[in-house]
Amino acid sequence: MQVKKLLITGSNGFLGSNLVHFFSQRADYEVFSTSQRKSILDDVKNFYQGDLQDLEFVKDLFSVIKPDLVINTVSLVNVDLCEERPSLAYDITVCTAQNVAQTAHEMGSRLIYISTDHLFDGKKSMYTEDDIPAPVNEYGRTKLLAEQKTIQANPTSAIIRTNFFGWSPHGHAPTFGEWVYNNLKDNRSINLFTDYYFTPIEVTYLSEAINSVIRSDFSGIINIAGSERCSKYEFGIALAKESGFDPSWIHPSKIAPDSFKAPRQQDLSLSIEKFRKTFKLELPDLHQSIERTIQKEPFRLS
Ligand SMILES: NC(=O)c1ccc[n+]([C@@H]2O[C@H](COP(=O)([O-])OP(=O)(O)OC[C@H]3O[C@@H](n4cnc5c(N)ncnc54)[C@H](OP(=O)(O)O)[C@@H]3O)[C@@H](O)[C@H]2O)c1
Repeated sequence: MQVKKLLITGSNGFLGSNLVHFFSQRADYEVFSTSQRKSILDDVKNFYQGDLQDLEFVKDLFSVIKPDLVINTVSLVNVDLCEERPSLAYDITVCTAQNVAQTAHEMGSRLIYISTDHLFDGKKSMYTEDDIPAPVNEYGRTKLLAEQKTIQANPTSAIIRTNFFGWSPHGHAPTFGEWVYNNLKDNRSINLFTDYYFTPIEVTYLSEAINSVIRSDFSGIINIAGSERCSKYEFGIALAKESGFDPSWIHPSKIAPDSFKAPRQQDLSLSIEKFRKTFKLELPDLHQSIERTIQKEPFRLS
């Protein structure tokens, strides 16, 4: 068996930490990780702390590791902060993507870039890879630019557009799914939008699908998301029911012009037809994703 060196960037993040955990359990990968702060994961091997905006650090990192594969998860993901500080969003999301893509290309490392469902105007649903992006906020604009820089610098890279939920590591701010879960668990009422749609996938299902992409020679853009479109409200109700919590703590609400600082589109849903056809694999529906999340509830990344 040939063991491949896999570098995961943003390993302190929600997705990055889950990918480190997922791939470290597989004998065919030797996992290396990097993040800006010191590692918040216990017992992590092969961790390198540094700033991916610094091209010299990126080049040194690749020279030392010589990765066969790289999964780049780094971005500024706080949508409202991106709107308030567009140059910070550019530096964190676009500059890091450019540096990683260029260096991966120079070193001959296969690159997977994690993108988003925030690229469209939300006027239709189930966006395909061929739909023309029209981001409505700075987060979407920087992610689109990061995709473009990645492909320009590294034409054989794979770009994965997604939206995911699950458990994040200790020390990470609660993610949307965790926020819903924690409030319901503590019998606190929350408002969730009935007119804001997405196609979320549980993070370990996403990790499995990323593994399929890595093992193929796929290049270009591919959506990896849940097979079922739902509103944030429907997501919350399904999570409450599966967890045995009282769904009446969730109140339906509608997006208002002042709901967020950054403009939001009402439909982020992604079509997964291309993934199905390319990989001959199915992706989970909402029930399957939530079921797996709940099964993993006692288990927390550390
Ligand atoms: N969360 C979602 O539902 C969602 C949905 C669609 C797409 N995505 C995409 O998925 C990816 C991962 O999202 P996430 O939620 O896991 O994000 P996250 O939790 O914010 O993790 C991103 C990590 O990037 C690291 N980072 C930031 N700037 C850096 C720099 N200059 N150099 C090195 N590391 C840096 C941070 O590390 P430190 O903590 O060490 O500073 C942070 O932990 C992003 O590309 C995002 O656009 C996320």
